[in-house]
Amino acid sequence: MKIIKAIKDATTFLELHTNQSSQQCKIEAEEIFMFVFGVNKSRMYSSDTDLVSDQHLGHIYQILNKRKENIPLSYLLKKHTFYKHNFYIDENVLIPRSETESVIDKLLYMGDKLFIEKNRCFFLDAGCGSGCVGITIANERPEWKVYLSDMYMSSLAVAKKNMEICKYKNVHLICADWLTAFRSVVFDFIFSNPPYIPLEDTRVEKRVFLNEPYSSLYSGEDGLDDTSFIDNEGDRWYVDEYGDKSYMWDYR
Ligand SMILES: C[S@@+](CC[C@H](N)C(=O)[O-])C[C@H]1O[C@@H](n2cnc3c(N)ncnc32)[C@H](O)[C@@H]1O
Repeated sequence: MKIIKAIKDATTFLELHTNQSSQQCKIEAEEIFMFVFGVNKSRMYSSDTDLVSDQHLGHIYQILNKRKENIPLSYLLKKHTFYKHNFYIDENVLIPRSETESVIDKLLYMGDKLFIEKNRCFFLDAGCGSGCVGITIANERPEWKVYLSDMYMSSLAVAKKNMEICKYKNVHLICADWLTAFRSVVFDFIFSNPPYIPLEDTRVEKRVFLNEPYSSLYSGEDGLDDTSFIDNEGDRWYVDEYGDKSYMWDYR
């Protein structure tokens, strides 16, 4: 079977077995093929004269069958594109959200203003998970000092792996329960995307609560255990305008 036909079949499989738009199914099918063949999109489509081997098809349908069980593609392919980089992702960390990605430019803008004032920017990504926010910031602003913290070693192991993406030596990893380890350290600027779902919240999608880490999602009966703790630790300066519960502080 030729590649284009095989991609079409995979798209139809996803349309039948996952609750996604046709366009999203096509994007996922292409991603699976690029992953299995280890090529980019243009290379994949330019090799349409090639036949897909049974071995490749077997691998592709192995992934598709897991998608049928509602396992997110990022966990199956162990990667997720965030801002300009492919991050390593596994079941120990939250899959980075597009809402979080859209906060990056705002963080850069705010940190730049601080940098002009103080001639430095010590930035903390508290509860870093995969490290997607802090590592992206570190790459965009080599002159800032970036700290990534999380309470879970399993998350920090993923963030550590993702430090390979760092182009500069301006990132440090720290195991810490929110801000408790940092009382004596003055950060210029802190960002956090803490867990905030109430324990009994029935609105959470099955795909999310069955696959993503409990410690990244839930935060006590009312969902406020972590956010109220963080709020008490500093003057909250800014709450994300994109609607999600991201927290940013200016520590001047
Ligand atoms: C919603 S996830 C955000 C992950 C990442 N920052 C992102 O936006 O994709 C929340 C993160 O907070 C971490 N976390 C939970 N409780 C914590 C605590 N007490 N102290 C530090 N980090 C904690 C979790 O391990 C998880 O990585």
